Amino acid sequence: MLLCSLERCNHDHTVIRALVPKPLRPKFRAAHHYLRHKFLLTKLFGHHASLIPPLVLMHDGPVGFEEFKRNGEEFFRYYTELCDLKPHERMLDVGSGIGRKTFLLTDYLNDEGSYEGLDIVKTGIDWCRERITRKYSRFKFQLIDVYNQHYNPTGRYKASEYRFPFADDSFDFVVLGSVFTHMVTEDMEHYLCEVARVLKTGGRCLASFFLLNQSSVALMRAHKSTVDLNISLGSCWVADARDPEAVTGYKEDFVRALYDKYNLEIKERVHYGAWCGRETFLSYQDLIVASKQPKQNQNSR
Ligand SMILES: C[S@@+](CC[C@H](N)C(=O)[O-])C[C@H]1O[C@@H](n2cnc3c(N)ncnc32)[C@H](O)[C@@H]1O
Repeated sequence: MLLCSLERCNHDHTVIRALVPKPLRPKFRAAHHYLRHKFLLTKLFGHHASLIPPLVLMHDGPVGFEEFKRNGEEFFRYYTELCDLKPHERMLDVGSGIGRKTFLLTDYLNDEGSYEGLDIVKTGIDWCRERITRKYSRFKFQLIDVYNQHYNPTGRYKASEYRFPFADDSFDFVVLGSVFTHMVTEDMEHYLCEVARVLKTGGRCLASFFLLNQSSVALMRAHKSTVDLNISLGSCWVADARDPEAVTGYKEDFVRALYDKYNLEIKERVHYGAWCGRETFLSYQDLIVASKQPKQNQNSR
């Protein structure tokens, strides 16, 4: 149906264009392009259309509107069904990107609920502030000048020393979607420690990883994987030694031990992903949902 309307639109464009005087044609083309874009976005995203960035701003994942929508819908399901996010809760999105996992939350979180986004890429934060915060004031975004060779090579602060700008025990839910897949060991460990600090007891964390275990390593060796993490930097494995943070993975045992260290209990099981060529999977990356345990558990160990 969408295709049909677009074909019709293209046909009308060709007919009308022939009637436009030549000097006005560039302006006509620009106006047509703009209207076509608005039409497509409104068809796909309805009243969220104004929150969707142009393709050139999608620095943080697959470039395409359909993919953007699918990804937003997929993670909205994980937030609400796997992680039990409630409308009145306070959530933190570390590495919020361009808001592809945020736009659907604007209808979900109520006046008691709130959302904080942190990222190191200015264009994404600027877009989210301009489009999301302006319309939904309980959604806030902060640019943090943290170094990452791939995303922010001029960053001032080390991720391994950076303190999230929030008080202890202040969030019900923290998400890191495809962020630990771009961080090296000491940075990742420190961020996990910060997640545990800012979560309330009983609060949940959803984080995605490329986890190295028997099955993913076997699939990588058999060239079935979409990423080839074959360079070891200690506990972190990367695909490109010159640009390590382009993609990083970790031994599953190492990650489990860190969760234990920071008193984050993994809920049920790890939800393994399709990234390495698995036939049974939940999402593309491996997903870990964990909850922060009460302090006495920590002491009784
Ligand atoms: C692959 S994108 C994922 C974006 C978003 N979470 C999503 O799932 O659509 C990774 C994001 O993490 C951000 N990032 C990388 N290192 C970071 C750090 N140390 N602190 C905060 N954000 C970081 C990048 O700027 C980028 O926006």
